[in-house]
Formats: sequence, C-alpha cells, structure tokens
Amino acid sequence: MTVPPLRIDLVTLFPELFEPWASLSFVGRARERGILTLRPRSPRDFGLGRHKSVDDTPYGGGSGMVMRVDVLVACIESLDADAPGPRAHRVLLSPQGTPLIQSKVKELAQREALMLICGRYEGFDDRVRAFVDEELSLGDFVVTGGEVAAMAVIEATVRLLPGVLGNEASTLEESHGADGLLEYPQYTRPAVYRDQSVPEVLTSGHHAAIASWRHEQAVERTRERRPELHARYVER
Ligand SMILES: C[S@@+](CC[C@H](N)C(=O)[O-])C[C@H]1O[C@@H](n2cnc3c(N)ncnc32)[C@H](O)[C@@H]1O
Repeated sequence: MTVPPLRIDLVTLFPELFEPWASLSFVGRARERGILTLRPRSPRDFGLGRHKSVDDTPYGGGSGMVMRVDVLVACIESLDADAPGPRAHRVLLSPQGTPLIQSKVKELAQREALMLICGRYEGFDDRVRAFVDEELSLGDFVVTGGEVAAMAVIEATVRLLPGVLGNEASTLEESHGADGLLEYPQYTRPAVYRDQSVPEVLTSGHHAAIASWRHEQAVERTRERRPELHARYVER
C-alpha cells in the first residue's frame, strides 16, 4: 500500500527560514523521498501599498503591530487556490491555542494536507480565527514568531509518517506513546562513567527481565515527574 505524501502549506513572513532547517534534517530526507511536500508562502506577497504592508496598529491603542486579516486570508486562500491536492486543514499557531500533545500530533499525521499559519509582531487580527480549523500552542510561553512552533509541529508529525524513521518501533515505545508513559531510562557505553554504573539488568542479556525492569522504570519515572499522566495510566 502506498501512503499519499503529506503536504504542509506554510503562511510565514520568513519562508527562507524553512529551507536550511529542512535540508539539514530528516524533514528534507522525507521530502526527497516524496513523503512530504513543503509550500511556504509569505503574506508579504499580498501586502498593501508600496511597502507591501502586512500589519497595522491595534484599534483601541496599545503596543506593537497586529497582522492584518485581509492580507493573511489572501495568502491562505492563494495556497488553497493552487494546491496540488485537497484543501489543507488550517492550523493557527498561537500561545492562546490548545497545547500540542502527542495524540494531536498523531491525528495531524493522518491528514493529507496541513496549513500552518505563523504569526509575528503582537499576533493576528482576531477575525483570522474565523478562517482556521484549529488553534494550537507549543505551550504556556510566548516566542517571537510562529515559525519555531511550525517547525516543532512539522518535526513531530513527519517523524510519525510511515517510512520516515528507519526504526518504526522507536515511535511506539517512546515517551507519550501508546501507554501514555514517559520512556524508561536509556544508557550506552561506557558501562561505568565516574561514579555511575549502568543498571546490571541491562547487561544481563535476560530479555524478559530487561523488559520488566524498563516497564517498572517507565511507570515510576512517570509517577515522579508527571503525576497527572501517571493517574491517567492507572485509570485505564
Ligand atoms: C509575540 S507572539 C504574539 C503573542 C500575542 N500577543 C498574545 O499575547 O497572545 C507572535 C507570534 O508567535 C507565535 N507564538 C508565540 N508563542 C507561541 C506558542 N506558545 N505557541 C505557538 N505559537 C506561538 C504566534 O504565531 C504568535 O502570533
């Protein structure tokens, strides 16, 4: 069965940020292998007047500039108009959105086309929210622009696409996977570093004992660090 490639359209004032990042990572390799298409486009191309203006001062006063809804929507609709496939699921990146979690990433990875809309300055004219399907946040903090958030969404999503990572099992067993636990502690050589030794069970060659130790560690680690995830795991 061939899986259709994921198309990711990007509304960004800095389309050039994406090329070096993509080409130096597995994202670029996914693209070369036809698993992914990236289409960054700038609202500046739809900007107004001689200066191709994309922002304006906020009604009611206040600091900073706000991205204009007409310019943003022109960019969004132009990406749709020449899309080589289905209309993209539109995601507004904003610190006011629902915090991104792995189950949402899995959902995004099932789609054929996504559009990630990156803000700058003081953010968006609120009316743009009527033109998007959902609003996602990286977490409860504020960065300067949506591009960092878009890169995080792309990396998290693309690594789940079949054939992108060499070892598919690694996305099943890791933190926030099917069981909702954090991953167990991992070690590699040297077996002893300063006063720290690798747990003996891992060098025993006893596969069942290793699996059981890892499971216990994952549960304990989750209980200590993320009691709310542990509670959900116990309730299942
Ligand atoms: C400086 S922020 C604007 C914040 C806005 N004034 C507010 O208080 O909600 C500029 C842009 O960065 C992006 N951004 C900032 N923090 C983010 C976060 N936690 N998650 C996703 N995008 C974020 C958004 O696209 C946002 O429009």
